[in-house]
Amino acid sequence: MKNLYVSVVLLQLIGTCLCQYPRPCANSEGLRTKECCPVWDGDGSQCGAMSGRGFCTEVEVSDEPHGHQYPHSGIDDRERWPLAFFNRTCRCAGNYGGYNCGECRFGYWGSNCAEYRESVRRNILTMSPAEQQKFTSYLNLAKNTINADYVISTATRAEMGENGENPLFSDINSYDLFVWMHYYVSRDAFLGGPGNVWRDIDFAHESAAFLPWHRVFLLHWENEIRKLTGDFNFTIPYWDWRDAQTCEVCTNALMGGRSPLNPNLISPASVFSSWKVRK
Ligand SMILES: *[C@@H]1O[C@H](CO)[C@@H](O)[C@H](O)[C@H]1NC(C)=O
Ligand SMILES: *[C@@H]1O[C@H](CO)[C@@H](O)[C@H](O)[C@H]1NC(C)=O
Repeated sequence: MKNLYVSVVLLQLIGTCLCQYPRPCANSEGLRTKECCPVWDGDGSQCGAMSGRGFCTEVEVSDEPHGHQYPHSGIDDRERWPLAFFNRTCRCAGNYGGYNCGECRFGYWGSNCAEYRESVRRNILTMSPAEQQKFTSYLNLAKNTINADYVISTATRAEMGENGENPLFSDINSYDLFVWMHYYVSRDAFLGGPGNVWRDIDFAHESAAFLPWHRVFLLHWENEIRKLTGDFNFTIPYWDWRDAQTCEVCTNALMGGRSPLNPNLISPASVFSSWKVRK
């Protein structure tokens, strides 16, 4: 799941990006060759090709012009994603998925990814206290564990040098990875020079991409939590806030209550009170 290929498919459909970088490709060689077709350990071949799981091929992206709200071209790495970074990636066959086709696509399970299993997301308010506690402990583990498969970029492609001689990527925990992806997809476009940005741009909101982008985003996030915890039945709970008069999830058992000392802070009794914002 969380994979470049899914991002590419999504791009073809709706012209957007998820924008995370597979760790095996985030280096000088990956930048220079523009190829991101990692080996699948299961058989030692790129994209698991020897096992028929997938193959390395050219990335195809839409040639459709940008919307009128973005009168620029060739200035932002997110245009025609992921071509600024990679132009060859794995294309997975059948129900395989992941950046090296070593995983199953969403909804499929088993060593051959042949079993379809539905995942049911549950109402957080009707989960038992033990289940609620498990959920917040998973979030806290994600916040405190470096993601094994993905890194983020800390500079533009141009800043990394024509031949990728200056790869600028960074480790990130599994929670902040998704914070960062959400930021990266919706941030301003840099036009060069301090403060010179184009604000009227967003690859995940303000258009038809809004719902599908966030659905795929959550599927990726669910998958990362499953891999991190080994709890492959994990589903993201939901809060049905339609008739809520108060923030029912703002309790210390759930997302954190208000601090009795400072109403702008989360209560020290909540595990989230110790979370730091990454800058
Ligand atoms: C992909 O990128 C490589 C490295 O820059 C380049 O040599 C190759 O021509 C590109 N392929 C296509 C189809 O653009
Ligand atoms: C996960 O769900 C499957 C299918 O419903 C079930 O067979 C399995 O026991 C569950 N695993 C755990 C750890 O609950």
